[in-house]
Amino acid sequence: MGRLDGKVAVITGAASGIGRASAVRFATEGAAVVVADLNPRGGEETVAECKRAGAQAVFQRVDVINEADIKAAVDRAVAEFGKLDVIFNNAGLAGAVGKIEETTADNWDRTFAILLRAVFFGMKYAVPEMRKAGGGSIISTASIAGLRGGAGPHAYSAAKAAVINLTRSVALEVGKDRIRVNCICPGGINTPLIYNNVPGGFEVADQFLKSIQPIPRAGGPADIAAMAAFLASDDAEWITGTAMVVDGGLTAGTMVFGQRPIGETPPGGFMGPSFEQKPK
Ligand SMILES: NC(=O)c1ccc[n+]([C@@H]2O[C@H](COP(=O)([O-])OP(=O)(O)OC[C@H]3O[C@@H](n4cnc5c(N)ncnc54)[C@H](O)[C@@H]3O)[C@@H](O)[C@H]2O)c1
Repeated sequence: MGRLDGKVAVITGAASGIGRASAVRFATEGAAVVVADLNPRGGEETVAECKRAGAQAVFQRVDVINEADIKAAVDRAVAEFGKLDVIFNNAGLAGAVGKIEETTADNWDRTFAILLRAVFFGMKYAVPEMRKAGGGSIISTASIAGLRGGAGPHAYSAAKAAVINLTRSVALEVGKDRIRVNCICPGGINTPLIYNNVPGGFEVADQFLKSIQPIPRAGGPADIAAMAAFLASDDAEWITGTAMVVDGGLTAGTMVFGQRPIGETPPGGFMGPSFEQKPK
């Protein structure tokens, strides 16, 4: 028996990376999945993987910039599988990149439409269906870039920060309807979003991502899928309004204190009063 047996989920951005891994994980755990994405070829591959895992799945072409497309994905879940229990608002891209003074209003707006407004649409159309179903779980992909500067481009970081607070705000409204609203803040996950933009591709990205956090391996889409499946499940029944950080410890702090890696102490394991210390 799977943790998501009998549940129906819509996952945006499910043709690749985190969304695909989540669709397959949800399917493995027993959910029926609407694979929603701009990319039909990748989407159909995900559907085939979900079916191989023994679940029902359909592809729905969605451009999350369009409100009607997101409504259609929710409607498709109800038409195909009878209800909606889970929506995972996950589709994304890097969006507007470059210096702040060179960023155009059009690129800024497009980034916000895909990374933030689409999450709003996902929530807007999921809530009424979840009320009918007696409850549900809304999950969105934010980022550690929404928690601090320097982890992503400007517009991306601002939009992801807004996803975190939209999550909290909507959680307050719909908790009484047994609808939980959470987001996930991934760290560096080696998906096409990252490795297609790195000269040298997957291997070079993998080496780099291994080196930036305490756990010495790159994050993979399965790490985020595991958290999404947990948040979708009844095991997370009392969890709402949270931003779950899944980052191998990247945001725990800096790994260097002064010029020494954390944990490497001077001989004796104790540093005395500063006036006794001489530069070596
Ligand atoms: N990879 C990372 O390190 C990382 C870290 C933090 C957050 N994220 C977030 O995770 C989410 C998934 O990204 P990923 O790393 O799996 O990247 P990915 O490129 O592998 O997957 C993104 C998916 O979103 C789809 N998509 C993009 N624009 C769309 C649109 N307008 N309408 C519908 N679908 C669209 C793409 O077709 C693709 O299938 C994104 O929201 C991203 O911002 C990724």
